[in-house]
Amino acid sequence: MKIAVVGSGYVGLVAAASFAEIGHQVICADNDLQKVAALQAGIVPIHEKFLPEIISRHCGERLTFTTSTQEAVRASEVVFIAVGTPTTEAGAADLSHVECVARDIARAINGFKLVVEKSTVPVYTNEWVHRAMLLNGAPEGQFEVVSNPEFLREGTAVTDFLYPDRVVVGCSSERAAQMMCEIYSPVIDGTYANEPTAIPRPEESLLVSQFIQTSARSAELIKHASNAFLAMRVSFINAVANVCELVGADIEEVARGVGADKRIGSRFLRAGLGYGGSCFPKDVSAFKTVAQECGYEFRLLDEVIRINEDQRQAFLRKVRTALWTLKGKRLAVLGLAFKGDTDDIRESPAVAIVKALLAQECSIAAYDPAAMERAKVELACENISYADGPYEAMHQADALLILTDWEEFTSLDLARAKSLLRYPIVLDGRNLYDPELMAGHGLSYYSVGRTAVVSKPVADPESQVPVQNGNDIQAISPNGNGHNGHAVHTNGHNGNGHHNGSLSAAAKAMKASANGGASTNGSNHAIPKNGNHPRK
Ligand code: UGA
Repeated sequence: MKIAVVGSGYVGLVAAASFAEIGHQVICADNDLQKVAALQAGIVPIHEKFLPEIISRHCGERLTFTTSTQEAVRASEVVFIAVGTPTTEAGAADLSHVECVARDIARAINGFKLVVEKSTVPVYTNEWVHRAMLLNGAPEGQFEVVSNPEFLREGTAVTDFLYPDRVVVGCSSERAAQMMCEIYSPVIDGTYANEPTAIPRPEESLLVSQFIQTSARSAELIKHASNAFLAMRVSFINAVANVCELVGADIEEVARGVGADKRIGSRFLRAGLGYGGSCFPKDVSAFKTVAQECGYEFRLLDEVIRINEDQRQAFLRKVRTALWTLKGKRLAVLGLAFKGDTDDIRESPAVAIVKALLAQECSIAAYDPAAMERAKVELACENISYADGPYEAMHQADALLILTDWEEFTSLDLARAKSLLRYPIVLDGRNLYDPELMAGHGLSYYSVGRTAVVSKPVADPESQVPVQNGNDIQAISPNGNGHNGHAVHTNGHNGNGHHNGSLSAAAKAMKASANGGASTNGSNHAIPKNGNHPRK
C-alpha cells in the first residue's frame, strides 16, 4: 500500500521505516529541512535499536523523505499523522501541529484518503480532524479519519512495532477497518517474523497479535488510559518503596511477591526515581485535563503525579544524608537519559536531579552511553563535565550516583570503583545492586525502598557525629538531616571480592522488563536485618 507518514519524530520515523520493512511504499514528510536532508543522507537522528538498520535497508527505495506534506499526500492512499502534541501551560495537549497537517491534507486531496491519527491525542480529536478537513475544502466522502494509537517504548520501538501486543484501530466504517487490517496484516498474523531478513522476534512477544477495532473515541481513550495506568503502577510501587524504607522491608522482595500474582504481573513494578520521558508526564497530565474538561475530577492522577515528583526529592534527601553538606562536593553521575537504551533526556529524573545538585553548588562528572550530547545542550554549566566512561567519572568523586538503568551500569567493577572514589559512597536511584554485595566491597550503599548499608560503623545517631576515616568524613548518620530516614544497616560482612555478572533482583527485573519478560525468580539478594528498627 502507498503510505504517507507526516512527522519524523520517534513515532513517525519508527512507523515509516517499519511500514517500509513490512512491504509498503512509504513517503515520510517533515517540515524540518535539516532533518530531512540528514535522513536522506542516511543519518538517523535518534538512538533506537534496529532503526538505522531498517532505514538503510529501505531508504531511497520503499522509504523516501520529503519536506512537502502535500507531495506525500498526493502520492498516497493512507496518510498517518505523527506530529508532536506538546503540553500547554494548562496541562492539555497542544494540537496545533495536528490541525496544520489536517489542513495540508485537505488542500492536497486528489482521491480517497484514509487519514490516520497516530499522535497521542485527547478524546474527540478524530472529530476535530474531520471537521478541519471539511473546513479546508476536503469533500465529504473523499476521506475518513481513523485513530490508531501507538504503544512503542523508546529503546524497543522497532520490535514493539513489528511484534505488537495489539493494534488498536478506532474507525466508523468497514472500509477503513479493512484497509488498516491490510496495512498491519504481516505483524498481526505473524508472517513478517518468518521472513529471512526479519528483525528478530523478542522471545516474550506474541506470535499473533490482536487487532482491536473500536470507536474513534475509545481508541483515543485506550492510549491515554494505558499510559496513565502504567504511570500509576510506577507511582504505586514507589509509594510502597517509601513504606518499605520506613519499616525496614525490601521493595525488591515485595515487588517480586506482588508481581508473581498473575492478576498483577511483574512489569512496570520497578521502584526508582519515578517515571520520566516524553510520554508519561505529558499524557498523565493531558488525561487528567481531558477528564476535568469532560466533567470528571480524576484525583487518582493528581496523586500519581505527586508521588512521582516526591520520588526525586526523596533521592536528593538521601544524597544529603550520605554526604552531609553538598556545597563543593564532587559527584560522579552515571546516567542522564530518562531510562536506559535511549538518548532521550526529556523529563529525565536524572537531569532534574543533576540540576538540583548543581544548584546546591556541587560539581558533577557525568557519563551516559548515549545521552551526553543532548545533555550538554540542556545542562550548559561550568560545574558539569562529561566523562569518557563510568570510571573516568568516578575519579576522586565524593560519591557515585547511579541515575539511569543502563545495562552497562549493572556490572561495574566495584573494587575499581571503590579505589577511584574519594569516599566509598554509592547512591543508586535504580536499585541495580544488592546491598549486601556493596557492603561486601566496603561501599556505603543507599538505594530505593531498601535499607541503606554503611560500610563502617556509624556514629550514634543521637550524637550526629560523622564517622572519621583518617582525616576525612566517611559517612554520616542517614538520619543526619532530621528527616525520618531509613534504618542503617551496618555491615561488617566480608564480600567475595568480585562482582561482575552478578545482577541484583532489580537489574534482572530491569532486563526482563526491557525485553517485556516475566518476573525475576530466585534472586539471592540481601534480606535486611531489621530487628533493631526503631519503628518496628
Ligand atoms: C511509554 C509507554 O510504555 C509506551 O507504551 C508508549 O507508546 C509511550 O510511552 C508513548 O506514549 O509514546 P516510554 O516513554 O518510551 O514508553 O518508556 P517506558 O519504558 O514506558 O518508561 C517510562 C518511564 O517509566 C521511564 O522513566 C522508566 O524509567 C519508568 N519506569 C518504567 C519505572 O520507573 N519503573 C518501571 O517499572 C517501568
